[in-house]
Formats: sequence, structure tokens, C-alpha cells
Amino acid sequence: MEFRNTREFARTLDKEDPLAKYKDEFIFPEINNKKVIYFTGNSLGLQPKSAKKYVDEVMDDWAKLAVEGHFYAEKPWWDYHERFSEKLAKVVGAKPSEITVMNTLTVNLHLLMVSFYRPDKKRFKIICEEKAFPSDQYMIASQVKFHGFNPEDAVVEVKKRPGENHFRTEDILKKIEEIGDECALVLFGGVNYYSGQVLDMETITKAGHKAGAKVGWDLAHAAGNIELKLHEWDVDFAAWCSYKYMNSGPGNASGCFIHERYHGLKEIPRFEGWWGHSKDRRFLMEPEFLPEPGAHAWQISNAPILALAPYLASLDIFDKVGMPALIEKRDKIVAYLEFILHQIDEEVESDFEIITPSNQNERGTQLSVFLHGEGKELFNFLMKNGVITDWREPNVIRLAPAPFYCSYEDMYEFGQILKRGILKI
Ligand SMILES: Cc1ncc(COP(=O)(O)O)c(C=O)c1O
Repeated sequence: MEFRNTREFARTLDKEDPLAKYKDEFIFPEINNKKVIYFTGNSLGLQPKSAKKYVDEVMDDWAKLAVEGHFYAEKPWWDYHERFSEKLAKVVGAKPSEITVMNTLTVNLHLLMVSFYRPDKKRFKIICEEKAFPSDQYMIASQVKFHGFNPEDAVVEVKKRPGENHFRTEDILKKIEEIGDECALVLFGGVNYYSGQVLDMETITKAGHKAGAKVGWDLAHAAGNIELKLHEWDVDFAAWCSYKYMNSGPGNASGCFIHERYHGLKEIPRFEGWWGHSKDRRFLMEPEFLPEPGAHAWQISNAPILALAPYLASLDIFDKVGMPALIEKRDKIVAYLEFILHQIDEEVESDFEIITPSNQNERGTQLSVFLHGEGKELFNFLMKNGVITDWREPNVIRLAPAPFYCSYEDMYEFGQILKRGILKI
């Protein structure tokens, strides 16, 4: 499609957009009495208007029923988390039994490593990306130390080639082959938080398994953003937070995927608690742990219902729209944003560099832009003028036009504000 950098053209795209009406289902902060242009759905998604209703329902049930709410609430609390399985399974390409919702992301990756990182003297290494999200770096190093190994020996980072912005699949595969039977675990971010690059998860998972390793994915920037087929790709485990593209609210619960081949195993190493115990026998208070048949066996504590309520509100919107429609709009609006950036770059004779892959199959919603020659001043100008982006040192802004609530006209408007910011007018 041939794009144009005019308000009329952007409005035409909005008119043709089947998802345009969903913008109205979200609450926007305002700056100068105007709704912001929100590019940080990759950090904290906007609040769905329905979230309050779902939370109020729990508050009302708590007030009216108190402890009886566990069984008699509108949505009973004792199995509230089960409401997520089927809907989240569609978002991440899994079987419902492979999904559970609990804790937060780093906590869950730790818990999953209890099950899937079982190093011995020979096979103890973890392959991951260089400059992984810091929490992942700390988590991996602390797990390695917990098992009595030295991170310097046990953590193997795949590096980008000098001067390049992306990881090459061939380099990741080569590293896996090279480490071979010393590799216990392959653990990467499915979508790189800094560059927005989407890794070839299927191919990397296959290579990890060929080397005899387990393969897990941090899907913080992938869930609700890109097409995932976790079951089909034969991934061992994965976890994601829900407060980014999944719009569940700050610091909210994390989703987990555990492949069905590990279900029902009594002997699998796992940290256990009563919420993972067989649901039918949970209140019999028996001494011996009897795992739930699916991923719910990894639950430990009873679920934080007040936190899960807004997540469920958002998930219900995902369920109504479906990932294929979201992805279709995502590709078009990101391509339009890319076009606008190039246009403005030419008009103001600047030299932006988009470090996110230009190939649609290797990117999701995020474009990361190096603003050569432009400093934090420009970022501050954007913020002051109602454009919420995020800034990463040394001079990258990340722009993620979430397809649920960003419009094509937002992209056009952003371009105009950006131009003013650079020309200082
Ligand atoms: C890629 C990635 N991994 C891990 C985390 C940590 O998430 P949490 O604080 O929910 O554990 C984040 C948070 O933004 C992230 O982006």
C-alpha cells in the first residue's frame, strides 16, 4: 500500500480500520486537556474501561459474602485463575491445560528454572542473549550460583556482530551447537526489549532440543504482541508479564506455559504449595502433595483475585478481537509509523536510525529509533506535547503503537510534533 503523510490519508485509514472502535474502550491520560498519543503499551498498557467493573465485582462480593466468596462469588475465587487458561491459550498458541496464571514474571522464571534447569557436572551451561533484560541477567546468574556454579563459566551469551543491531539466528544456532552437551538450558527473550527484534523461536527451540537442552522463553514483550505457537514449537516452558501489551495493570500477574509432556509427573522437581494440589482434594488438607493434572500444578499460593480481575477484563477484550485481527492492524500501523518517521527524517534532514528489523516477520509492535544528534531534550519535548514514548540510554526512543488503542491519525500527529521538536518551533 502506498502511504501518504497527510491527516486526510491517516483519517481514511482509521475509517477503514475494523479495530478503530476499541480505542474508546481504554482510558487515556491527558496532557493540556488532550488525550495523549500513547506509545508505551510495551511498558504499561492502558487501562481498559471494563477493568473497574471487574474489580468492583470482587470488592462487592467480598463485602457481601466475605469468606463465602471463595465458592459463591459471581466468579468464585477458589478456581478464578482457571478462567484464564482457555483465553490465554489462544493468545500464546497453547493447549488450555498448558497455561496457568500466578505470581510475577521473574518469580515465575525462577520457579520454572527449578523444574527445567537441572545442571550436573557435565551439562550446566545456560545460553542466553547478551544484554538480556537486567532482571533475567540477575535471575540466571543467581540460579547458576544457587547450584554451585560460577556464572563466568556457566552463562554463555550470544552476541550481536560488531556494528549490527540484531541477533543472527545462525549465530545462536552455532553457539548452541558449539556448547552441545554442556548446555542445560537455552533461555532467551522471544522479543528483544531494546530493539524489538522477534527471534525465530521455533528454529532455536529445535536446536536447543537437538543439543539435549531444555528451552524456555521470556515472553514479556511477546504476549499479546506477536503470533506464538508454543505448543507446536515444542517449547518446554515460557512466562510473560501481563502489564505490557496485555493491559492488565501495573506489576500484575504473570502467565506461564508448561508443555503438556511434563504434566502429571509426580517426580518432577518443583516448588509446591496447596494451590497446585489436586483441586478436588485441596480442602481435605492431606499431607501428601497430589499435583493438579496440568500447568496449575505449578501454582503455590491461592490466587490474588483483586489483581487478576483487571487482567481478566483485558483478556476478555483479547478474546473478542483475537490475535489475527490485532496482528493485521499491528503490521499496518507499524508500517505507517515507519513511513512517517522516514518522511520526517527527510523533511528535517535529520538521521534517525530505526534499529528494529524492517522485515515484518522479525518485528512486532515496537520500533526502536536511534536519534543521532538529538538528545533527551527531544524526548522531553514529545512528553510535554502529549506524546508518551520511552527513552533508553544513550539515545533511543521506543515507539509501540498498540493496535487496540492507537490510531493512524495518532501516527500522523506524532510526526508533526516530532518535526516541531527537531526544528525547535
Ligand atoms: C524482558 C523482560 N523480562 C523481565 C521483566 C521483569 O518483569 P517483572 O518485574 O514482572 O518480574 C521485564 C519487565 O519489564 C521485561 O521487560
